[in-house]
Amino acid sequence: MMTLSFNLNGKETKVEINPWDTLANVLRRNLMLTGTKKGCEEGECGACTVLLEGKPVNSCIVPAAKVQGKKVVTIEGLSDNGELHPIQEAFIEAGAIQCGFCTPGVVLSAKALLDMDIMPSEEEIKQELSGHLCRCTGYVQFIEAVKLASAKLQKKN
Ligand code: FES
Ligand code: FES
Repeated sequence: MMTLSFNLNGKETKVEINPWDTLANVLRRNLMLTGTKKGCEEGECGACTVLLEGKPVNSCIVPAAKVQGKKVVTIEGLSDNGELHPIQEAFIEAGAIQCGFCTPGVVLSAKALLDMDIMPSEEEIKQELSGHLCRCTGYVQFIEAVKLASAKLQKKN
C-alpha cells in the first residue's frame, strides 16, 4: 500500500492505494467518484477520461501512483455548488446525451479543448473528440454541443 496525495477537483486529497492500481479504479473504488466510467479498460474508448494537469488522459491506463502531487479533475469537479458547467448545459441543450455512458469523458475533453481555445474550429473539435466512442448519439451532436459551449463561455467572459 502507499499513500497517494494529489489535488482532486480542487481539494488536496490523500488516499491509501495499491501502487499498481489504475487511476480509474482509485477514483471509482477508493474515492467513490463513479462519474468516471470504465468501458474497454484498454485505452481505446475514452469513457474513463479525466483531466491530468488540464490534459485529457485515459485513466484506465494511467497508474494511480503517477498522479502523486498532480492535479486531477473528474466530471464531479465541473459543476459549481450543484450548478452545471456551461459545457454540461450545452451538451444537454444540443441533445448530445443519450445513455450518458460516454458523456463525462467527452465533456472533459471538450473542456480541455475550450480551456486552450475558446473558439475552436470544427476540425479541432473533431480531432479532440476522435478518441471517444459513443454507441448512441451521432458525432454531429457532439460538435454542435461544443460550438454551443464555446458561445456560452464567450458570453460569460
Ligand atoms: Fe479507458 Fe476505455 S475504459 S479508454
Ligand atoms: Fe450512450 Fe454515448 S450517449 S455511449
